[in-house]
Amino acid sequence: MQDFVFQNATKVIFGKDTEQMAGQESILYGKKLLLHFGGGSIKESGLYDRVVQSVKDQGIEIVELGGVQPNPRVSLVREGIALCREHNIGFILAVGGGSVIDSAKAIAAGVNYEGDVWDFFTGKSAVEECLPIGVVLTIPAAGSETSGGTVITAEDGWYKRAVGHETMRPKFAILNPELTYTLSSYQTACGITDMMAHILERYFTNVKHVELTDRLCEATLKTIINNAQTVLAEPENYDARAEIMWAGTVAHNDWLSTGRIGDWGSHDIEHEISGIYDIAHGAGLAIVFPAWMKYVYKHDIKRFAQFAHRVWDIEVDVNNLEKTALAGIEKTKQFFSSIGMPVSLAEAEIKDDRIDEMARKGTERGPLGNFVKLHEEDVRQILHMAK
Ligand code: NZQ
Ligand code: ZN
Repeated sequence: MQDFVFQNATKVIFGKDTEQMAGQESILYGKKLLLHFGGGSIKESGLYDRVVQSVKDQGIEIVELGGVQPNPRVSLVREGIALCREHNIGFILAVGGGSVIDSAKAIAAGVNYEGDVWDFFTGKSAVEECLPIGVVLTIPAAGSETSGGTVITAEDGWYKRAVGHETMRPKFAILNPELTYTLSSYQTACGITDMMAHILERYFTNVKHVELTDRLCEATLKTIINNAQTVLAEPENYDARAEIMWAGTVAHNDWLSTGRIGDWGSHDIEHEISGIYDIAHGAGLAIVFPAWMKYVYKHDIKRFAQFAHRVWDIEVDVNNLEKTALAGIEKTKQFFSSIGMPVSLAEAEIKDDRIDEMARKGTERGPLGNFVKLHEEDVRQILHMAK
């Protein structure tokens, strides 16, 4: 196990009706806030009205910025920064999913920075401080509600890039599983795939003696797998929604990373796909992950066999660990398919004519991944395997 420092200061408030606490939590950060949200789902569900009421009850003044798109754009982030400066706002309340939260984080990072916010994403400048943000989460998926990262897309060139900083972690995250009842099966499945991918990125590591976190990863994966079909068949099953919602946070709050080095190559490859084709991040991961696994499994067949056995209950063939490893990869792909995810570029109606471009863009700042370092040619091959 590696040495580590673990710190995750986000206060998680979990359970029914907890959105009513948005006001009392927000008032701790000032009398004025930017209310940031997406394309309308929170208005349709009535959540918008409840959050606004809770905030107004505390006498907090609200400035609004809706319209965050999935795969959030830097142009709206710039608008948000200008609004915060114009109204002298010191706190952002994000109500929505990963896209809304990420957009809020990028605004929070940019308000007190003199240059253009995209500088953080190109590496031209480093984030030093962020405005505090709070979250009311509506989709368990990205884990952004307690993560220290944001992923933003620049329309100029369709670059989708991530940035992280400890001060980006939200001050509080309100998680009410009932708010996820209105999710479509497709968005529910995209979220399930994304949270599983967050665990898999951490699971495939070269660090030895990481038994505790291996088993925590496996337990979280099994919980997601066990509840996935239930939430799809019964969208208003509170207990199953609650398991999935908490698993989505646990998958990405960095607890599962302690003492180990994650990979993240599949995420970086996926960001090239959703950056250009604007598909849901979870769907992109269902396409990339099985191909990545097939490309790298020989690097550590034993670890892949362990994954197959402990997560998918596949019997270990001691004379042929490779067979066990491959069965685990196949099972992962079948599972994504069974919950309605595309598992090839073709299934997402993506042609193979921009693979070279994605491989070049994805690796222009160096090789991807840690478990196995992926250079441009490797990424090209993985994308061809995902056709
Ligand atoms: O915009 P609205 O109208 O709210 O609709 C959204 C959106 O269309 C809808 N939705 C959300 N909650 C709903 C709902 N519809 C009905 N009922 C509800 N309760 O779902 C759609 C997708 O929302 P989005 O926020 O895009 O989903 P997600 O949470 O999956 O976020 C994806 C983004 O997060 C990034 C991804 O790359 C992607 O851009 N990620 C962020 C990470 C982080 N900051 O730590 C890590 C992840 O790996 C990921 O890369
Ligand atoms: Zn992800």
